Amino acid sequence: MTKKIFSGVQPTGNLHLGNYLGAIKNFVELNNDQENECIFCVVDLHAITVKQNPKELRNNIRETVATFVASGINPQKSIIFNQSTISAHTEAAWILSCVAKMGWLNRMTQFKEKAGKDKEKASIGLYSYPILMAADILLYDASHVPVGEDQKQHLELCRDIAQKFNNDFEVENFLKVPEPLIQREFSRIMSLKDGTKKMSKSEISDLSRINLTDDKDSIINKIKKAKTDPLPLPTNIKDLELRPEAKNLLRIYSSLTNLSLEKVIKTFEGKNFSEFKEKLSQVLSDKIDPISKEIKKLMNDKDFLDKILLEGYQKANDIASDKVKKMHEIIGF
Ligand code: AMP
Ligand code: TRP
Repeated sequence: MTKKIFSGVQPTGNLHLGNYLGAIKNFVELNNDQENECIFCVVDLHAITVKQNPKELRNNIRETVATFVASGINPQKSIIFNQSTISAHTEAAWILSCVAKMGWLNRMTQFKEKAGKDKEKASIGLYSYPILMAADILLYDASHVPVGEDQKQHLELCRDIAQKFNNDFEVENFLKVPEPLIQREFSRIMSLKDGTKKMSKSEISDLSRINLTDDKDSIINKIKKAKTDPLPLPTNIKDLELRPEAKNLLRIYSSLTNLSLEKVIKTFEGKNFSEFKEKLSQVLSDKIDPISKEIKKLMNDKDFLDKILLEGYQKANDIASDKVKKMHEIIGF
């Protein structure tokens, strides 16, 4: 059965190993399956829910495209475009914001985390962000949405919004209710400095993450400085429960080598961290260094990147504007 895949990544800079293992690696596999129709969106409208520098934003949009292509997404096979070029996204988001309930949005934990203590000062956009995300997905009748664990709640909201629209207007199955695709094992890669915190673009310390633009030397340096604990590596998974940093590093190794966590634990049991870290740096730089080099090369060819976005826009716009037109008719405009 053909799967219709849709996902988005914010062009907010510092794309990192968490984005890669939690999302982009999966995009590449889905892109490689001939049966699938894939759309990958650079969600610049989502990015401006927190303040952005215009010059950096423009650069980050291209860098996100470059990262997609450098990681192995084929723009000939998958549609790649940026969200702000297609007005149907903001239009559908408005319509859906009249369907969604305040109570539903009030439950969103990402807003609470991002807004912090002073919610009064957060933008309205940050609050209604999940509605725009629902619009992104529903405009393309996506059947599957590959994301990291942190987006699960937003996807559940998207499903609720689709069902409510279909019920309210008595249009069964008009908005397709999508399924999440979450790589359970690697859906939350943690900070290298604190194994209880998610690896994040916005963390001030660059040592907390492996960026996809890092070269071999900085990867080695960051792994050397990554937080660990004084014990040798464990002999079984259960012993990892209270050792979040060790668990995170072993999971990263397991993901990159496609070996099960059990197998990785067997290989390194009883060894000290310095030996394991050397091996981990090696597999990390084998994977990330070529992507990093390719991103840098592609960033010197802005015309090529802009052409990908233009072609993506043309294809995506046909689908989205047709869907939003149908929404207008259903609503009574
Ligand atoms: P964002 O950078 O917030 O646009 O996220 C892009 C994608 O990466 C989303 O699917 C996220 O769920 C995923 N992601 C972000 N951070 C992590 C992380 N630390 N571990 C796993 N996946 C992540
Ligand atoms: N909210 C997602 C994130 O921060 C990005 C996103 C926007 C997205 N629209 C989407 C993901 C649609 C999947 C589908 O990671």
